[in-house]
Amino acid sequence: MTDLQKENIMIFGSGLIGRSWAMVFASGGFRVKLYDIVKEQVTAALEDIRKQMEDLKKSGMLRGTLSVNEQMSLISGSSDLKTALEDAVFIQECVPESLELKQKIFSEIDLHVNDTTIISSSTSCLSPTKMFNGLKHVKNCIVAHPVNPPYYVPLVELVPHPETDVATVEKTYTLMKNIGQSPVKLMKETDGFVLNRLQYAVISEAWRLVEDEVISPRDVDIVMSEGLGMRYAFLGPLETAHLNAEGFKSYCERYGEGIKRVLGTFGPVPEFSGKVAEKIDEALWDQQNDKNGQLEARREWRNTCLSHLAKLKNEMKKN
Ligand code: NAI
Repeated sequence: MTDLQKENIMIFGSGLIGRSWAMVFASGGFRVKLYDIVKEQVTAALEDIRKQMEDLKKSGMLRGTLSVNEQMSLISGSSDLKTALEDAVFIQECVPESLELKQKIFSEIDLHVNDTTIISSSTSCLSPTKMFNGLKHVKNCIVAHPVNPPYYVPLVELVPHPETDVATVEKTYTLMKNIGQSPVKLMKETDGFVLNRLQYAVISEAWRLVEDEVISPRDVDIVMSEGLGMRYAFLGPLETAHLNAEGFKSYCERYGEGIKRVLGTFGPVPEFSGKVAEKIDEALWDQQNDKNGQLEARREWRNTCLSHLAKLKNEMKKN
């Protein structure tokens, strides 16, 4: 239990990610104040959260030990900034990905918080230096980048500003563990953080393989979901290599030359537009069904798969 437990968590922005954070914190027994500049958005968020929780309950996937009603009683909505910030020990910002907007919001928050409140951003790729520079409470500022949907995918990348206190990183790390997420600490910021740098390397090569007509878009996805992804759900690329030889050094000795040869054939950074984008897009739509319907259905299926995988991973950890 951290010293933050049972304290107020403020979620700043009640869109897709804000709602998910609210659910994750409530599942861990924290009181959550969900704030949004748009009043109707707060009302819609609370209704949506209840519906999501009830669906999760029905499918046996509700997180935590509290009932839906107990978790809902921990979440309150507000469109008044001062009320929402009251007693908040941890603020998770979830407004749209705009540096100017986030800078404006952090300057505002900076005026109202005390010296112990942690100010955390959900940003996917904005630099902590640019977002937090010059703030009075910069030592308390951090990025806690979730993966969509955070309710099912536990990774959180913690990225400090150069002036962030070690205590801020440690408290945030413990808090994330406490609510069942899997935090990792970046020692310094790097463009795209780590998850997206790895993801972009994969997307680029998938693009080039389709562009060079080596493989179809559907099949490149199968290489990942039925091949690499099978082990990556449990092991990272480094441990995978470690196990595929007699340790990582042995792997490098055996395969290093071959890896370097193949990497030397990788093409330039793709444009991410034009004919290849059209080809991939066309291949991914199911031509038999309406577009909106199929995206919704597929997202729902993805979430179900992820929640089952999360359950399996938890069971495997106990073994
Ligand atoms: P969203 O557009 O669904 O929600 C943003 C919310 O912020 C809206 O409810 C909006 O009314 C509110 N808002 C806008 N201006 C505001 C203001 N001045 N004060 C208070 N509230 C305000 O956005 P989403 O997808 O939830 O993204 C939020 C953050 O999370 C972004 O920084 C994004 O990069 C990051 N993120 C998003 C992921 C995703 O897959 N959607 C994954 C990981 C991080």
